[in-house]
Parts: sequence; structure tokens; C-alpha cells
Amino acid sequence: MNPVVIDTDPGLDDAVAILFALASGRFDILGITTVAGNLGIDVTTRNAGRLLALLGRPDIPVAAGATAPLDRPGIDEAAIHGDDGLGGTRLPEPRQRALPDAVTWLEETLVAHPAGGVDILALGPLTNIAALIRRSPEAARRIGRIIAMGGAVTERGNVGPRSEFNFAYDPEAAEIVFAFGLDLTIVPLDVTRKVRADAAYLERLRAGPIAARAAGDLIAAYFQDGRQSRPLHDPCVMLYAVAPELFGIDKLAIGIDLADDPGALEEVGSGAPLKVALAIDAEAAKDLLATGLLNEPA
Ligand code: BDR
Ligand code: CA
Repeated sequence: MNPVVIDTDPGLDDAVAILFALASGRFDILGITTVAGNLGIDVTTRNAGRLLALLGRPDIPVAAGATAPLDRPGIDEAAIHGDDGLGGTRLPEPRQRALPDAVTWLEETLVAHPAGGVDILALGPLTNIAALIRRSPEAARRIGRIIAMGGAVTERGNVGPRSEFNFAYDPEAAEIVFAFGLDLTIVPLDVTRKVRADAAYLERLRAGPIAARAAGDLIAAYFQDGRQSRPLHDPCVMLYAVAPELFGIDKLAIGIDLADDPGALEEVGSGAPLKVALAIDAEAAKDLLATGLLNEPA
């Protein structure tokens, strides 16, 4: 697999995904770029640094990205993720200073690697990637693959009737990324809602080493609203990257609704079809996630 950049707005499920990437030993992580989404940019950037500090990886750079969607105000998700974005989970403070400009860092990183040699794992709104496309399309063309959590195809949305948070937060950005013609795979609610953590899963993690324990605490924070199980959206991007055979992919010609239900996916008559994950072996996916989190890095 290519080295990866994780573009993210941590956020509880983002944090579990990042811990999996760090603990499993299956990713060459070039850096983490942060974006406003679940919380504001200062919080999401701090959280990326806190997760790296927990696992002793301050060598992985963090670059702070977009502070707001391209063309509209953001949506407040603090009710789900807590004011600190991580449900009050105890983590160390960052041991590194974040770089100031994610788009410049992405541009430089893509140019420093062979064309097609860096993949992007996108766990939040696509604002940073769209800003890169606008500012430096030739650098953006060097991206290998983008795997992005977002959207809902046959499922109801979680913001509007058919719109999902990441694309609803910045629909204009999603549209720019969709239209640019990169190797893009969408991981929508249709599969992420099937990968659910329940109390037994949480206890399995909490009995493990540091990354697994932290993931257990993060998932426990998700349960504070009294629900018995919660979907693990963003980890599905990581799982698709390492085990695509667990997913069923359809090719759909889709665009983004910018008007009635902003961010909703809609069929389009023209344009290259995108790869969309519509099926998943959820039990195998959950097991792979736990196995990676429970791994003790050498
Ligand atoms: C997505 O929105 C955020 O709340 C989660 O982190 C995930 O990326 C799910 O719709
Ligand atoms: Ca996210």
C-alpha cells in the first residue's frame, strides 16, 4: 500500500480510526492534516496531536487545515463528540507544534513523492482536498487514491433526510473533489452503520494495550447518550484500505446536492462513475479493527 495522509476532524470515531492506523502497524503515515468538522480546527488539531502523543509518535507531523467550509457556515456536532471532541477521554497533551497550513504541506508532500504514490484517507469534510485542488491542481493530480467516509446511498442521512455529516458540512468541497476525476472511493453510511460497537466489543478493547484501551474509552464516551451500540464510521476507511475484500463496491455516477438537502448524493447523467462501498462483511471488519487496535507495536 502507498504511504498515506490522514485528513481528519477528530472526533470520537476519527480518533478510533487514527489509533487503529497507529497501532496496527499496517500504515506508513506521512502526516495528519486536520479540518474543522466535528469541532473547530483548534480542537481537532489538538486532538490529532494528543493521539500521537499517547502512542509516542510525535515524529508524525500534524498540519492544521481549513477553519470553516468553503462557502457556508459549519454545523455544530459538539453534542455527539463532547466539547473537547473526544468525549472527555483522558489523553496527554500534544508533544509537537502543529504546522500552520495543511494545504501547503499537502502540496509539498505530494510533489516530494512519485506521482500516484500517496493515498489520502479522508475522515472529515473534504475542505482541505478541495482547497488543494483549487490552489494547486497539478499537485492534486499526484494523489494516488482517496478513500473518503461520507454520504448515504440507500440509507437515510444523519443531517438531512438523505445527507450525511461530512458531505453536508461542506457540500461545495465534496462536489469539487467528486468532479476532479481522482481515484476516489466513497465509504458511506450504508456500510459504516453496520460496523457497530456494543458493550462486549468495548470490554474486549478495554482489556488490551494502550491503543485498544483508549479506543474503548472513546467508544464508551459514545454510549453516554444511553444507546446500546454505536456505528464506527471512520474506522471503515482504514479497514477498506487494508482489507478491500471485506467490502462490495458499486460504480455509481453520482454528484452532490447543493440546494434542497445539501450534501445528499444524487444521480448524475454524465461524469465518470465513482467507487462506492455498499456492502461489508461487518463481523470480519469489526474483528479486524479490534485485532489492529489490540496489536502491540514492536
Ligand atoms: C461522519 O461525521 C462525523 O460525525 C464522524 O466523525 C464521521 O466522519 C459520520 O457521518
Ligand atoms: Ca470524522
